[in-house]
Amino acid sequence: MTIRQREVKRDRLYTEGDADLKHIRDKCITTIGYGSQGHAQALNLRDSGLNVIVGNREDRFAAEARADGFDVMPIVQAVKRADVILFLIPDEVQAAVYSEVEPYLREGQVLDFASGYSVHFGLIRPLPFLDVVLTVPTCRGTVLRERIQRGQGVFGHFGVYQDYSGKAGDIAMALAKGMGLLKFGCTECSFGQEVVVNLFAESAGLGAIPQYLLTAYEVLIEAGFSAEAAYAETFYELQFFVENLVKERLANSRQGSSTSTYLILSKTGEVVDDHVRDNMRRMLGRIQSGELVREWNLEQMAGAPMLHQRKRALAEHEIKDVEDVFLERKKASGW
Ligand SMILES: NC(=O)c1ccc[n+]([C@@H]2O[C@H](COP(=O)([O-])OP(=O)(O)OC[C@H]3O[C@@H](n4cnc5c(N)ncnc54)[C@H](OP(=O)(O)O)[C@@H]3O)[C@@H](O)[C@H]2O)c1
Repeated sequence: MTIRQREVKRDRLYTEGDADLKHIRDKCITTIGYGSQGHAQALNLRDSGLNVIVGNREDRFAAEARADGFDVMPIVQAVKRADVILFLIPDEVQAAVYSEVEPYLREGQVLDFASGYSVHFGLIRPLPFLDVVLTVPTCRGTVLRERIQRGQGVFGHFGVYQDYSGKAGDIAMALAKGMGLLKFGCTECSFGQEVVVNLFAESAGLGAIPQYLLTAYEVLIEAGFSAEAAYAETFYELQFFVENLVKERLANSRQGSSTSTYLILSKTGEVVDDHVRDNMRRMLGRIQSGELVREWNLEQMAGAPMLHQRKRALAEHEIKDVEDVFLERKKASGW
């Protein structure tokens, strides 16, 4: 493992005392969308005593929001009614939905995103008379909701892209507080920083783990080991490995026996070597230049053939047979 010393930038961590809900208390907040982030943020904000409505097309998400007690209406109507608009629909459809609602936006409204994607990459160019802010939990919506219900926090970011009112920063922090993000703590960042780091983590960081483990699994299978042995030591054990890792500092985390600790600390670097570092740097460059987002846009315009093909290949991978065995045993043993 190569650890190079260099100057490391640090961010301030904002917590509950730094924000005040008064900046949004009298405002009508609408989510656009009631999916992963939409449902979690709407429920958390309402639990914080804020006035929340939901804008959604008339379908199962609208029905869920209604069942959760929200006033649900078509997206344009919600945008007309609200002071603060949380854009909580998938990144790839945000630009089209923004074009539909733009004629109804009025001076002084707040547009809040849960990712810097659309604004940073120029897919949405917000009108100049809006506050445009970012509040991002670093987890799926279900996790955000569950943790806040248990009184726990979630790390997040907030940021300002456009400060028309002069209060956009206060409003972003108040939203973060209302969602429960300041219970743990939030850093302030630009839309660009948020989305670049996030896309990098998905393509080269955390998101690379399934592919990494699948490669390890396949190498064991090629060498003639059983699917059960290979699966147990890669995917099955991941949960215990991660549980230990997140409890401790990296330097203290003891991954099993002293032999395994020795191997992890002295041999893993032979696999995750400078080629991997170079690949990661290349990936970061492609994200920063916008190449990856352009590629994803073209893929969507073509009906996502590559994505469908990759999903099919994974669904047909022979690992599914041993996955079935382990999933069945998990169920049977009351996992
Ligand atoms: N999920 C995460 O882990 C996560 C974490 C942090 C940040 N974020 C960010 O949060 C934002 C929302 O992501 P999400 O994962 O919460 O999205 P999601 O669950 O996939 O969003 C589903 C919602 O979007 C609506 N929707 C989908 N297509 C639509 C369209 N064409 N027109 C109108 N409504 C549409 C759906 O309603 P319909 O049934 O009407 O389609 C539903 O209400 C994104 O910016 C994302 O990057 C996500």
